[in-house]
Amino acid sequence: MSPLPPFDPALFTSEGDRAALRTVLRHHWAACRDRTLALFDRITASHFCPQLHSDYSPLGWHLGHLGWTEELWILQQCAGEKPLDPTLNRLFAADSLPKAERQNLPDRGWILDYLAEVRSRVLAYLDRAPVDQQVRLWVWLLQHESQHNETVAFLHRLATGLPPLPATALPSPDFDSVIIPAGTVVVGCDRIETQDNERPAQRVWVDGFECDRFPVTQGQYHEFIAADGYQNPDHWSAAGWQWRTTHAITQPLHWQPDPTGQHHPVCGISYYEAEAYAHFVGKRLPTEWEWEKAAGSNGSGETLWPYPWGEDPPQPHHSNFDTQIGHTTAVNAYPQGQSKTGCWDLLGNVWEWTATPFAPYPGFEAYPYRGYSAAYFDGQHQVMRGGSWATRPWGLRNSFRNWYQPWVREIFVGVRLVRSL
Ligand code: AVJ
Ligand code: FE
Repeated sequence: MSPLPPFDPALFTSEGDRAALRTVLRHHWAACRDRTLALFDRITASHFCPQLHSDYSPLGWHLGHLGWTEELWILQQCAGEKPLDPTLNRLFAADSLPKAERQNLPDRGWILDYLAEVRSRVLAYLDRAPVDQQVRLWVWLLQHESQHNETVAFLHRLATGLPPLPATALPSPDFDSVIIPAGTVVVGCDRIETQDNERPAQRVWVDGFECDRFPVTQGQYHEFIAADGYQNPDHWSAAGWQWRTTHAITQPLHWQPDPTGQHHPVCGISYYEAEAYAHFVGKRLPTEWEWEKAAGSNGSGETLWPYPWGEDPPQPHHSNFDTQIGHTTAVNAYPQGQSKTGCWDLLGNVWEWTATPFAPYPGFEAYPYRGYSAAYFDGQHQVMRGGSWATRPWGLRNSFRNWYQPWVREIFVGVRLVRSL
């Protein structure tokens, strides 16, 4: 896929430029949907309707929810059209039925027809829409679809099992760390594509710290398992130990101890496991500011780049993302994705837990609805940064914040550690 062109509405003010903006949106919407449909093509009937995990909706529900969300925001809110089928609210709104009651779905053909019907009306509306005034919403919807894609990808992977990791000829990574000097930086981002929770950009002070060049690998994490780290409460927080014993957890969820995976990042750990491993090696999790500074700065200077490597939107030589590869890769597989501070693998491969609870930035304004982010500012969710191998390009940037409860480990998530100076 061609890289994501910037969605700067200032570029699209005259009528002629509106046409250009429509073309860009059509291209991105089609590219995003193509992969969604391809992902569902690989999902068999036996995985479409049942709830594969009690904390998540059935895969088929996610598909219907995408069409419903698009209909709600574009056809109803922007175009002023009537609902195609008012009964769908109850089924496909995120805050309606309990997840366990979402298994009684219309059949897949019906849902696909519904998506196609919505999309054809949306594209007809796009031709006359004042897109320069709506670009934030159109780009938000791409990211919404991207995030549901990722959820479908990890649930499907849990249901079908992990493929064996191919052997690699890469040398062992040189596991050192980089020094990030103290200073003020501007974190968050006000670009049109950013989510409500990334805004407004703000200046923050970050003390100097030492940051691991790579995310924690399976080879490194194996030492924690071999040293009986899962049996030793000293490494665990009180909440973490309670979780670990209640659920009899003994290893990461997406654990592939095969020797070909030793330099792949550890994947499928809860926040509690990340904390326990950090204690075992005498380090700690980064705050989200530390993470963002390591990813976006060159050490000095206040302004951060949107991607570790600079300004260019993500492309396949930068990192492992967009489900192209289909599994994790060695943490040193992408020299061209390095940050200017010398850290590797910050975007893509696995999400990285941070020590920061999910909370609003000063001046936060909910968009496009309160429940999107604000409902999770409850002290019960931790911020994750960086994206995984299954993150679609629209959700990949240094300022992007993901959030989950500390016990969640279905996500393709690992951790990178730091130390105070
Ligand atoms: C930000 C990934 C936690 O999937 O629950 C999708 C994104 N919000 N539809 C989720 C989201 C509404 C959200 N995460
Ligand atoms: Fe949603």
